[in-house]
Amino acid sequence: MNESFKENFDDFEVTPWKVEGSVDYARLIKKFGTQEITNEILEKIESFTGELHPLLKHKFFFSHRDLDWILNKYDNNEKFYLYTGRGPSGMVHLGHLMPWFLTKHLQDKFDSNLLFQITDDEKFLFGNQTLDEIKKNVYENILDIIAIGFKKSKTKIIINSRHIKHLYSTSLEIAKRITFSTAKSVFGFTNSTNIGMIGFPPLQAVPCFLPSIIEGKPTPVLIPAAIDQDPYWRLTRDIAEKIGFYKPAQIHSKFLPSLQTIGKMSSSSPETAIFTTDETKIVEEKISNAFTGGQPTISLQKKLGGNPSVCSVFSYLKYLFDTPAESNERELKCRSGNLLCGECKHDLSDDSTAFISMFQKRREKAKDIVSDFMYSEES
Ligand code: TYM
Repeated sequence: MNESFKENFDDFEVTPWKVEGSVDYARLIKKFGTQEITNEILEKIESFTGELHPLLKHKFFFSHRDLDWILNKYDNNEKFYLYTGRGPSGMVHLGHLMPWFLTKHLQDKFDSNLLFQITDDEKFLFGNQTLDEIKKNVYENILDIIAIGFKKSKTKIIINSRHIKHLYSTSLEIAKRITFSTAKSVFGFTNSTNIGMIGFPPLQAVPCFLPSIIEGKPTPVLIPAAIDQDPYWRLTRDIAEKIGFYKPAQIHSKFLPSLQTIGKMSSSSPETAIFTTDETKIVEEKISNAFTGGQPTISLQKKLGGNPSVCSVFSYLKYLFDTPAESNERELKCRSGNLLCGECKHDLSDDSTAFISMFQKRREKAKDIVSDFMYSEES
């Protein structure tokens, strides 16, 4: 990556392919030029959905582009599509599930159609795996997507290499309007970047416009994803109106942190992440070795209290399992020295193993209905 692209933060870096360091989300909003999700927007969402989803209430989703615009459209009887995706670089971990949980909630509450893109081409071009290895990941990842519980009649999965005939002509319209110079400054491509990578971004942009093509009229699209994907949408938004479409709106999440150090949960370092395919024993082991905000000894913990704001175990409980009230209580007890790390690890271990075993059953059931979720094969 070239130097101009690296976000000039000394202590962290966020790109679609790499998240490192302790991310300062307020600074990231300024750098990326997105908007903070205000209480006013949350109230507006609540007026449509009833109670706010915990991921919104806890501000795990913290930033957006045009979310207010798309809610106003909905208010004026213009329904929106949801669009999200997965780059099949390996198995799915709990971090990936976070944007998908919110996507399912939004699908249920707004009765939205969902396009789910699988960028097998991206992961081939940007990584070291063979096409055959990636194909296996695609199948495994589809089981996870279905296990989330999206509505069969309103969800279509697009696999780039398989459904390319539905994407190609729109990708040409997009590609023609993006210069190499723009792609370099948004993605940090250099002279040694392979040309497949340089040509890839329009393909991730296409599903932002497919709903308008399917519906035969301009159709708003909302993309739930972690903020690492934002560079793609910056580029897409630049050209959208030039080719007659609405700009896609986004709702961005933070990253579920790594279990071991500061940074995001990542499939390239398996010990930092809990995968949906992990066995119970492995999940328990990973949690028992997790990084916490605790003091080095029990007596110091009781005397000084811990620091939940840097604790991976606290984050997992907060974003995945605790209710907002439980999380507040846990935080107070930890800070005041009335809670030991072992107790939180025990809670997380119980909750995670129960969740993973339930999720694995749903993955098994998903095997029978894969074809129901596929995007149309017809031309
Ligand atoms: P991928 O496979 O890297 O990630 C899939 C989704 O998970 C989010 N994510 C995380 N969220 C919370 N905590 C984490 N630790 C974490 N790690 C990853 C990502 O932001 C993403 O939403 N190029 C994309 C695939 C894609 C896509 C899309 C994603 C194609 N079209 C539209 C979102 C929306 C990719 O490789 O995602």
